[in-house]
Amino acid sequence: MAVIAKNCPDIKVEVVDINEIRIKAWNDNDVANLPVFEPGLAEIVKKSRKNNLSFSTDVESSIKNADMVFISVNTPIKEKGMGAGKTSDLRWVESCARQISKSAEGHTIVVEKSTLPVKTAQTIKDILDSSSMYTDKKSTFSVLSNPEFLAEGTAINDLENPDRVLIGGDDLDAMNSLKNIYLNWIPDEKIIFTNLWSSELSKLSANAMLAQRISSINSLSAICEVTGADIGDVANAIGMDTRIGNKFLKTGPGFGGSCFKKDILNLVYLSRYYGLNEVADFWQETLKINSWQQNRIYKQIVEKLFGNLAGKKIAILGFAFKENTNDTRESPAIDICKNLLNEGAFLNIHDCKVKKETIQKDLFNNGCIDENLSWSYKDNVYSALEETHAAILITEWSLYKTINWGEILSKLKKPFWIFDTRLILKPKELNKLGIKIWQLGYGNNI
Ligand code: UGA
Repeated sequence: MAVIAKNCPDIKVEVVDINEIRIKAWNDNDVANLPVFEPGLAEIVKKSRKNNLSFSTDVESSIKNADMVFISVNTPIKEKGMGAGKTSDLRWVESCARQISKSAEGHTIVVEKSTLPVKTAQTIKDILDSSSMYTDKKSTFSVLSNPEFLAEGTAINDLENPDRVLIGGDDLDAMNSLKNIYLNWIPDEKIIFTNLWSSELSKLSANAMLAQRISSINSLSAICEVTGADIGDVANAIGMDTRIGNKFLKTGPGFGGSCFKKDILNLVYLSRYYGLNEVADFWQETLKINSWQQNRIYKQIVEKLFGNLAGKKIAILGFAFKENTNDTRESPAIDICKNLLNEGAFLNIHDCKVKKETIQKDLFNNGCIDENLSWSYKDNVYSALEETHAAILITEWSLYKTINWGEILSKLKKPFWIFDTRLILKPKELNKLGIKIWQLGYGNNI
């Protein structure tokens, strides 16, 4: 919405939420306190707030005055009941649809922005149409699907220069109204129209295919480790084939983030619902390899540290699911750390953006581990490394590339091991210092 406000000075963008604390944070004079960290976002919000971008809790009057309403709410995986652990929890989408039907006046275009299971637009339509039948307002609605393809950490650039903008719907006038907004900064040929279901399915499929590429390269990283092949060379050789392309071929500790797992689970659920069990099994494997990758990293750590972590201190470098974000949802760091804690290790956890409270919640929500005795939050990477037996690099923050290992060497326990799951460190230089290093896709060769 901030990027729309920036590129469309004639459009008034009102962001509304029932959560007062969040809205207050979005209005904070100090933009360092915005609820989301995303490079470039604070500057745009600061500038646009003075013009055509506002944040408020006045949901009703905003909807009443709006020509177009974007539904951008959380759609996490359902925790209880039918489809638990497999499909999205749509309670917030449904409650938005009910709120819109209650407050809207005249004709309103409703745009699904949240990532949703296929056919959700029908639910929204049914709620909007049925409730307006029983009021005197005679409000009318058009429902569009306009999935978001931005990635965290590069969101602003992805929105300013998208590969494509997808608009799904069956009301051409409404589709053109939304297209006209994007035409303010995006070329016509990049804006594509489809029906609602193709649009919803394209979003899930794009994420599923990206995730599948990561699981493919991660599965190959394990083959490299046992054969002596080099995952960097293999990825390069594969990626130079223009039919395959070189993006999304970096091996790592497994994909995290709020969407890949959820979207694949939704695809699996949808396939099973229609009796397409082979299709469901195919996509399920992508998730299986992802957990396996995290698990095998943990096993390598235990093995290299003589099968025993009890009483050992380990530095965790990075907790976010990728660099340039403070988001930890589905971060591979969570399971890796839980497994290490379970072995009796003490963790010094450092991240460039993730706060202590977030890590605390991610690791100890179930309350089964005594947090005071098992971990410490470090906001300085050198103090995180002090007196540790090993460091596990999980997030590819640039800061970690610049660590002066020579400087900290005397304060590390020996033998000292580094487990570099992002391939950003220089093994030869570390070996010269007497530091042992294991890198994904290279394994014991170093
Ligand atoms: C992903 C998609 O890339 C976006 O197009 C989509 O809009 C978004 O999900 C969404 O649906 O919300 P995001 O999860 O923010 O974006 O981040 P990605 O850059 O895709 O990374 C996802 C995970 O894959 C991260 O854990 C990352 O470290 C990992 N990854 C990515 C790799 O391990 N290797 C790679 O080569 C690329």
